[in-house]
Amino acid sequence: MSNKNNGVRILWYLTAPDGQVPWEADGRWQTGFGHLQQLAGTIDKLGYYGALLATGADEVNVLAASVLSVTSRMKFVAAVYPGLIAPAKLAQIAQTINRFSGNRLVYNAVNGSDAMLPAQGIHLAHDERYAYSLEYWEAFQRLYAGSTEGYDGKYIQIAPRPANFGGGSQRGAPPPRYEPFELWGAGTSSAGVAHSVRSLDVYLSFANTPQKLGDKFRNVGAEAAKIGRQLEYGTRLQIIVRETEEEAWEYAEYLVSRTSVEYARQSIERQLPPGESFDTYVSPDPQVNRNLEQIRAGRLPKARDYEIYPNIWTGPALHGFNVLGPAQGTTLVGSAENVAARIREFQEQGVGTFILSGWPLIEEAYRVADLLFPLLDLDHGFDVPLLSPHKRRSVPAAAPALPAAA
Ligand SMILES: Cc1cc2nc3c(=O)[nH]c(=O)nc-3n(C[C@H](O)[C@H](O)[C@H](O)COP(=O)(O)O)c2cc1C
Repeated sequence: MSNKNNGVRILWYLTAPDGQVPWEADGRWQTGFGHLQQLAGTIDKLGYYGALLATGADEVNVLAASVLSVTSRMKFVAAVYPGLIAPAKLAQIAQTINRFSGNRLVYNAVNGSDAMLPAQGIHLAHDERYAYSLEYWEAFQRLYAGSTEGYDGKYIQIAPRPANFGGGSQRGAPPPRYEPFELWGAGTSSAGVAHSVRSLDVYLSFANTPQKLGDKFRNVGAEAAKIGRQLEYGTRLQIIVRETEEEAWEYAEYLVSRTSVEYARQSIERQLPPGESFDTYVSPDPQVNRNLEQIRAGRLPKARDYEIYPNIWTGPALHGFNVLGPAQGTTLVGSAENVAARIREFQEQGVGTFILSGWPLIEEAYRVADLLFPLLDLDHGFDVPLLSPHKRRSVPAAAPALPAAA
């Protein structure tokens, strides 16, 4: 499961809700299990490397397990907060899913935020969450691999397994051995980075401009090198890809027209630095201030006013309307040719993995597979069945990734 070759890995999104404009009540569909099965089957059939399963909706292990029978090759990158499930039980769940699926489960180790975790019974402060998380994933990895020795940490203590552990025919048998579990994850603060370089195989970040994202990854790479580790890098983006730039921006404009000023305001309030207010905040970026002025006056600026770099857009999306600057909601917008060029630009900055989404999820998964896949050098570990092989052009090789910062 690695992209050490020159190609990229494209993943999609397997998480409710869905709809044309799912961030607005009148743009969200009533969907259920049948829809998620159809979405998973589509992602699998179209040849995506896998999909991200986020924490906010259905339980991720249950969701992954429940769509195994309609999928055969996609990976499930399932977000987990350490501590909600005891590491021994999570290791057993992961072993079971990986045995049943042919090793298609990986976890996205996320540590959430102060606003969300206490309501789930986790009361550790931000940096201590990462100290806890280090032990959690270490204990998980040992148990997952089949160690019987237990774990003796500051936060986590697990006794060695007695010789007569297990029931029935398993009693006394040695536990099965598993390959190391692949851990993806995120963490931007210094505690988050320190945790990531020790625990993760693939480091993920929300997108920014290619250069800024590359800088972030080079810094993380330099921290990893200090302890003799090397990570792979991935990013998360929404996408609007069409045959032409005009069509893509027309659709972006449509999404703005379906978005309420209230959604913009709420998103801005979530993004404001501590102590700042919606009415008085002044950004260092004059375009952001022009956008804020319009939103304060009760109207949304035009789509192009949120383009922060060619084809990189901070307009409305399910995960936020990042008027103040790129974050969870950042979107690639443009013609297939230009979006492919931008993906190569990210690749030149060391990004090998792209977790994309566009809504409606099934419809846009088809668009991306149809328009973009033929223009990319995909490294999914199997032959991706192109919907439109005639659109395939010779794919320019990406320049090698920049070396890590010293
Ligand atoms: C690709 C990606 C996916 C994420 N998915 C989730 C998620 O499903 N649930 C969640 O609470 N946080 C998610 N996060 C956010 C992290 O939990 C965390 O808040 C963020 O990385 C900030 O890191 P910090 O704690 O170092 O400030 C995700 C982050 C990234 C980059």
